[in-house]
Amino acid sequence: MKRVGVLGTGQMGVGIAQVLAQTGHEVLLWNRTEDSLEWGLTAIRQGLDRLLKKERISQLDHKDTLAHIRGVVAPEELKAADIVIEAVPEDLNLKKELYARLHLICADDVIFASNTSSLSVTSLARDSGRPEHFIGMHFFNPVQVMKLVEIVRGLATSGETTERVRALALAMGKIPLDAKDYPGFVVNRIVMPMINEAIFALEQGVADAKTIDECMKLGCNHPMGPLALADLVGLDIVLAILESLQREFGDPRYRPCSLLRKYVEAGWFGSKTSRGFYTY
Ligand code: CAA
Repeated sequence: MKRVGVLGTGQMGVGIAQVLAQTGHEVLLWNRTEDSLEWGLTAIRQGLDRLLKKERISQLDHKDTLAHIRGVVAPEELKAADIVIEAVPEDLNLKKELYARLHLICADDVIFASNTSSLSVTSLARDSGRPEHFIGMHFFNPVQVMKLVEIVRGLATSGETTERVRALALAMGKIPLDAKDYPGFVVNRIVMPMINEAIFALEQGVADAKTIDECMKLGCNHPMGPLALADLVGLDIVLAILESLQREFGDPRYRPCSLLRKYVEAGWFGSKTSRGFYTY
């Protein structure tokens, strides 16, 4: 699978596109507006500039990687893709609409892989019109650094689809591990309640944000504290995942801390809005 469509130019779409291009894949990066597309392409260029500056890549790699990415606005351009990885916002209607459109454009055996972190893969698969060729391919932030890809089969996902997607993850230099289609899969089911608990501790004044993070770094050897991690992932995303865990399991232990809700209401989404538990 050499030609990969990537839908969405948020943190995840941009990271996925960059890693694909760096590992020799042809990328068709889609967003519905020229402005969002330009933003995504600029973010990739800046990421590569940093690598060049650190001498992690050569000038030639830099040029070659950018040449592997073509930004597209018309969904029809994705007809050329062997697989489409969807990383648009977690809005069910938006995803449904996109799948319905692409289902008519792409050949029947083209795989649709979703980077969803909070929706049911089985249910998205049904909406895709091609449940056997639909799968969850869940990357982690920052995609350029994190090795894991959770491979999540829907009830109807075929074995062949799973193998092809696993091979693509390996070709990207990632480590694919299987997770069942339960809310949060493995990582988010464990990490999001930890982040939520850190926010409860902050709300109750157990310690300030910096101290909570330092405690978890020094006491548990985590590379970054849970509040800084929440800022990195995006507080809007953390809230959406916790709400999904609470809704799907019907268990109050996943209830999002009201302080998290307040930050999201204020538009403080973390590093992407320059303000979250920290300012950037
Ligand atoms: N994009 C690209 N590269 C990045 C980056 C980014 N946003 N952030 C850091 N890096 C790179 C740096 O350039 C550096 O690379 P080199 O070693 O080649 O120079 C390397 O990562 C290490 O970075 P730093 O030295 O600046 O800082 P660090 O050692 O503290 O590492 C970190 C930063 C990799 C983010 C590390 O703190 C970490 O692993 N944090 C935990 C991340 C994590 O848990 N992610 C999962 C979140 S859950 C999720 O994503 C699922 C979901 O559905 C929401």
